[in-house]
Amino acid sequence: MTTSTAVEAQFRMSDRTEYEAALQRLREASQAYYGDGDSALDDASYDRLRLAVLAWEGENPTEVSAESPTGLVADGAAPAGDVAHTTRLLSLDNVFDAEGLVAWGASVQRRLGRAPEGGFTVEPKIDGAAVAARYRAGRLVQIITRGDGSHGEDVSHVIGQIDGLPERLAGAATVEVRGEVAFTQEQFETANEVRTAHGAQVFANPRNGAAGTLRAKDRPYRLRMTFWAYGVVELDGESFLPAGCTHAEALAAVAAAGVRTTADSPAGLRVVADLAEAQQRVYEIAGMRAELPVGIDGVVVKLDDTAEQQSAGFGTRFPYWAIAVKLPAVERQTVLQDVVWEVGRTGVLAPTAILAPVEIDGSTVTRATLLL
Ligand code: IVH
Repeated sequence: MTTSTAVEAQFRMSDRTEYEAALQRLREASQAYYGDGDSALDDASYDRLRLAVLAWEGENPTEVSAESPTGLVADGAAPAGDVAHTTRLLSLDNVFDAEGLVAWGASVQRRLGRAPEGGFTVEPKIDGAAVAARYRAGRLVQIITRGDGSHGEDVSHVIGQIDGLPERLAGAATVEVRGEVAFTQEQFETANEVRTAHGAQVFANPRNGAAGTLRAKDRPYRLRMTFWAYGVVELDGESFLPAGCTHAEALAAVAAAGVRTTADSPAGLRVVADLAEAQQRVYEIAGMRAELPVGIDGVVVKLDDTAEQQSAGFGTRFPYWAIAVKLPAVERQTVLQDVVWEVGRTGVLAPTAILAPVEIDGSTVTRATLLL
């Protein structure tokens, strides 16, 4: 379920040529997002362009390109590896405001055939890179990136480098925890100091730094990152969770085993009775954003009752029982120093604004591509 707002009108496309061009921009931006991080589109513009593409595909179902990235996990840009995931490691659908959350609630109610009775959880959406971490007999044996959702890359070389993901659990459990690896702001600053000392380029922002650090096998230095679990799946048929436990209880079991969860983040995990309360908590977390030690790009609302989650079900890219309420892009003012013409990555001449350096959500911004 995706809602459409007036703000994305600027990206609306009227014919197949504009649609194909939009697909190309989406592909380039998502490849940059999962690659070097040097994307010409900020997150909010990316989301709007993606919504406009989805709207066009909805209105022109016979014209949808077989190569459209919108039907793929991570928009098809995350490098897939060769390790099969235990169960598909899915993404989340997005809404952008309170109306979107209400619309998601209605879609859940339709799928269940009644209003949910088990309440909702509300937790921060950590802006990092998704991984699955496998523990066997209490030992951390493998870390796998999300990849295309079915297969990910083995990045076990980062074992021992991630706060919140201990090499040994409190007990001898065999289990797979899923969550987000990110740099806290403090770890990000240290990471860039270490990189500067080694003559390497500073990271563009914490998210890209974390994705790059997970995949980098041959660096002469190690950078500390942090993990927050947001889910758990059973591994090798071993039971880990108490029967019939809720999402909040599942994360509590993970925390009791010694792994950090989204409940341990300063924005915490709340169990609420209804979506009005969930929306209230979204506002509260949004208000804390600037003071949080780690970047968040939204707030995730989930059905707490796992039986209700099963009834609501899964799509090919995301579960129907969870939704990300995206937070608006962080805005900052700065001084426009110059405008220069440059050939962009698509080979098109485009104006570029040269800006007085300004920090926006963990990145230092000195240039901006201007849309004609
Ligand atoms: S739930 C099937 N909860 O955001 C469950 N995801 O943009 C799907 N993320 O792929 C994920 N914080 O990597 C969930 N509290 C949170 C999250 C979270 C960050 C990531 C996750 C997901 C991506 C979607």
